[in-house]
Amino acid sequence: MSGNDRQIAYWNEVAGPKWIRMQEAMEARLAAIETLLLERASPQRGETVLEVGCGTGATTARLAALVGERGHVTAADVSRPMLDAARTRLAGRENVTLIEADAATADFGTSFDLIASRFGVMFFEDPAAAFAHLHASLRPGGRLCCVAWAPLDANPHWAIPLAIAIGRLAAGRPRPPHAPGPLAFDDPAYVEDILRRAGFAAISVTAEPATILGRSLDDEAEIAAFMGPAGRLLDEKAADAATRAELRAAFRAALPGYADPNACLRATVHVIMARRGG
Ligand SMILES: C[S@@+](CC[C@H](N)C(=O)[O-])C[C@H]1O[C@@H](n2cnc3c(N)ncnc32)[C@H](O)[C@@H]1O
Repeated sequence: MSGNDRQIAYWNEVAGPKWIRMQEAMEARLAAIETLLLERASPQRGETVLEVGCGTGATTARLAALVGERGHVTAADVSRPMLDAARTRLAGRENVTLIEADAATADFGTSFDLIASRFGVMFFEDPAAAFAHLHASLRPGGRLCCVAWAPLDANPHWAIPLAIAIGRLAAGRPRPPHAPGPLAFDDPAYVEDILRRAGFAAISVTAEPATILGRSLDDEAEIAAFMGPAGRLLDEKAADAATRAELRAAFRAALPGYADPNACLRATVHVIMARRGG
């Protein structure tokens, strides 16, 4: 395997189908972070936007509404199941093009005003090359605005289930620093260096508080057991159905201490902003 093939297979065969199974809950829990991204990206009427890793198209729909009928959103993803859900959602939207493409290398045949992404840019095998390509896909002065997860200890919705899972199953194999995955961009200095080497200017990576607006703590426990760091550990340890059920119950019991009455969980994201230099 080479390039992003490993992640492409993962998002088609493993993570995409899992996400679709919990699509409504996944979209609900990330809604506040979408609003934060859109506030910072500030898409304007008539602009052209590239969305990297559009997934099921929730953010795409809001971007398309903001740029209006004179603007356009090109939404790229490598996962067929995620794109199928996006196609259903966005059928009939004339200012959206959904493309099955690796954003690290695809030639979109145009220069964008804005590149935006909610949690879609942490999966590149060679992020320096990918961001150099994205830089070249912007018009001069064009903007980049993405959100990525801040470190685990600033994200108790993941850290708590992971600690419980480690207590039950033992720690997993150590991962190389910055390996492609949800936490690949948890170090602002590392992200800034990638963007600088890619040619970006006016770079900022800021940690910002966010909330996970889950529909219910049952959903959160379910999601923690199959996505993110705890989910990955359960897969690595080939946890059987009984162990998974036991851990879901333990996650559910631990999470209320971190929830407000609306089932909001504390989270922290990195807001990554830059402009095409030169
Ligand atoms: C964590 S999901 C986020 C999906 C969506 N942005 C959201 O917030 O609901 C990451 C998405 O990035 C996509 N992705 C991963 N690597 C990609 C690449 N090289 N090019 C385009 N999409 C990619 C995955 O298929 C997946 O849909």
